[in-house]
Amino acid sequence: MHSTKVQNAINKQINQELYSAYLYLAMAAESDRLGLPGFVNWFKLQYAEELAHADRFFTYLLERDGSVELEAIARPELKSETALTLFERALAHEQHITKLIFDLKDLARAESDHATDVFLEWFVSEQVEEEASTRAVIDQLRMVDGNPNGLFLIDRELASRQVESSNEA
Ligand SMILES: [Fe+2]
Ligand SMILES: [Fe+2]
Repeated sequence: MHSTKVQNAINKQINQELYSAYLYLAMAAESDRLGLPGFVNWFKLQYAEELAHADRFFTYLLERDGSVELEAIARPELKSETALTLFERALAHEQHITKLIFDLKDLARAESDHATDVFLEWFVSEQVEEEASTRAVIDQLRMVDGNPNGLFLIDRELASRQVESSNEA
């Protein structure tokens, strides 16, 4: 069984993952406004991944006989974004989530909760991937520097992204 501290932190993380999903859904809508269907595809896959992350924490908490407390999900605030600022915000958000996962891992260790410590390993690796894939798009966007031809090619590449097998629960 978890300590109350670990249980509360996992509940908070379920909310953060759902907020992440909500943020990516807002980014998909914003990409549609920018006329970038490949970006819509990329952000919607990200949205689905974040829902799967929330579900992973949810299922784990129930498996360990914990109690789930669902809180309100914050409203994502986006304003007149460009393709580049959307991805910069996505990276900043993923870095924030990485910090939360590390804090959660520190807490599990401090509470001698070995099961949670091991459970979080998957998320540590996942965050490395999330940051790297987001950073790769930022690098491309900086390279084309707003050039429409370049943006068109990046959009076409993002349109080809499919569900990754490593993220299937
Ligand atoms: Fe996540
Ligand atoms: Fe993420």
